[in-house]
Amino acid sequence: CGIVCYKGNLNARNVIVEGLERLEYRGYDSAGISLIKDGKLSTVKKSGKVKVLKDELEKNPIEGNLGIGHIRWATHGGPSDINSHPHLSNDGKIAVVHNGIIENYNELKEGLKKEGYTFKSDTDTEVVAVLIEKYYDGDLLEAVKKARLDLRGSYALGIISENEDDRLIVLREESPLVLGLTESGILAASDLPSIIKYTKDVIYLDNGDLVDINGDKYTIYNRDNEEIEREISKVTFSFEDATKEGYDHFMIKEINEQPRAIADTIKYKMHEGDIDFGENAFTKEEIEGFNKIYMVACGTAYNAGIVGAYAFEKFAKIPVITDIASEFRYNDPFIDKNSLIILPSQSGETADTLAALRLAREKGAKTLVLTNVVASSLDREADKTIYCYAGPEIAVASTKAYTTQIISLYMLALDFAKKLGTISEDEYKNILEEIKAIPEKVKEILNNIEDIKKYAQEIKDFESMFYLGRGLDYSSVIEGALKLKEVSYIHSEAFAAGELKHGTIALIEEGTPVVTVATQSNIIEKTISNVKEVISRGANIFAICTPDDHLEEISNYAYILPKTIDALYPVLAVIPQQLLAYYTSNAKGIDVDKPRNLAKSVTVE
Ligand code: G6P
Repeated sequence: CGIVCYKGNLNARNVIVEGLERLEYRGYDSAGISLIKDGKLSTVKKSGKVKVLKDELEKNPIEGNLGIGHIRWATHGGPSDINSHPHLSNDGKIAVVHNGIIENYNELKEGLKKEGYTFKSDTDTEVVAVLIEKYYDGDLLEAVKKARLDLRGSYALGIISENEDDRLIVLREESPLVLGLTESGILAASDLPSIIKYTKDVIYLDNGDLVDINGDKYTIYNRDNEEIEREISKVTFSFEDATKEGYDHFMIKEINEQPRAIADTIKYKMHEGDIDFGENAFTKEEIEGFNKIYMVACGTAYNAGIVGAYAFEKFAKIPVITDIASEFRYNDPFIDKNSLIILPSQSGETADTLAALRLAREKGAKTLVLTNVVASSLDREADKTIYCYAGPEIAVASTKAYTTQIISLYMLALDFAKKLGTISEDEYKNILEEIKAIPEKVKEILNNIEDIKKYAQEIKDFESMFYLGRGLDYSSVIEGALKLKEVSYIHSEAFAAGELKHGTIALIEEGTPVVTVATQSNIIEKTISNVKEVISRGANIFAICTPDDHLEEISNYAYILPKTIDALYPVLAVIPQQLLAYYTSNAKGIDVDKPRNLAKSVTVE
């Protein structure tokens, strides 16, 4: 989520709406704005992107030089107009936008209800508006100061009231908030992109800071309500750089976000230490009714699906057929009410996947969508949805969506297995513990990139290269090869290592780059034999392996992964492959976030 607040002599509606657009990388599930003009507060809020809010504002124009705005990235439940910000007090005079979580909101809400206050939404934010109303006694600043003593949790808050139409109050605790000091007023926003069009002079607020912007003056108070000074900093970077939070590109930022993204996807699928999909869980009876699963998707989401398919077969003992969405429809799939169709899709908007979902529903099959975007088309049309919680993915080449999709599918497969009784309690617990340990292991990999950069330099001028693996490692290299080709334009092919000798090995010559993933203990010796076959024909090997493989003895480069169980190696093994694609693209000077001919979301069939 993100907030943008403004007080000055410009048209606040334009400043705030534009500021919200520039924060869309933080979410785009709903957007809203409140403005005050001539002592009158008006609010417009809509679920959907900022564009939807803009269209609504065309029809229902509101004006003012003072206002607050919000964009939301829903994490629980679908976005709705009523849950969108700003939220109002009972008398409709105070409006609040909020980024963060008020942890004790239930307790506060119950107390306020007893005092006769009512609530329209399910949000924690509405409690803040009502609390300020309760304490209001002719001075908004005093009311906010009192209210904040009751709040526990994290927040960046923007507050206005029609009782005091020359005043904006903002405060922060844990959630980010920056002030922008311009010649024509003051901006307060969750991040710099909304500010730097207007000014380079900013104040990074600290936890506990409260800013009272009254008339054309601002006063900062600390948590103890003492007046304090904060240093004014000069922003030295551009809008584009600002959203990348110090990284050179979105792709590398998103690769590095994976420990957090995976931890979130795990957290939101757990309750009291165990897997719990809440209202999107299938019951034991429903699962017993499925005699097969189809895993249907496109691109990287398809590649995540083929790893996930393994988990359903291995743990839940349900046969899975994987199919590319654009093929599925024309293959006359044999599905009926006893089939479950799982459709992974980062965007939730891919036309081929949507068409596959509609066909599945027509044939009476049950559908489950796995997506990163709440209220996307696939989410809306599916019987059930589970979310990835990766956060907005901006780089065209998908990275954090892939790993969070795999983790989500594994957790779903474990849930099925437990309900069906196809897994022992010990094995279930062990896998779950290993899943919980993944974010730390990903972090470890991200700190070890030197060899990857060297290998990227060595391969950058080759026209073609190969990726080899067997079993789950084969699934993993399919994604690795796709990553490399989409951002580096090197023709890279993934092969089941045992199949290479049936034709493709003819292409291996002195110096040909070959990446191999070798993590699966049951077939490791066979994989090593295949690697030796290409080494003896001159291949330049980058091996991604486990501490037990000893591939470093025969390879040009060996990237040793932290230890996990065989089933989970695809999540670790993909990280060096993503990094290799990124650094190769960089070494070639390609626009890695927007490779030629590709689109992030493909809404044509
Ligand atoms: C496009 C993107 C790919 C993505 C695929 C599926 O082709 O360029 O990166 O994997 O669509 O997208 P989805 O949003 O359904 O996961």
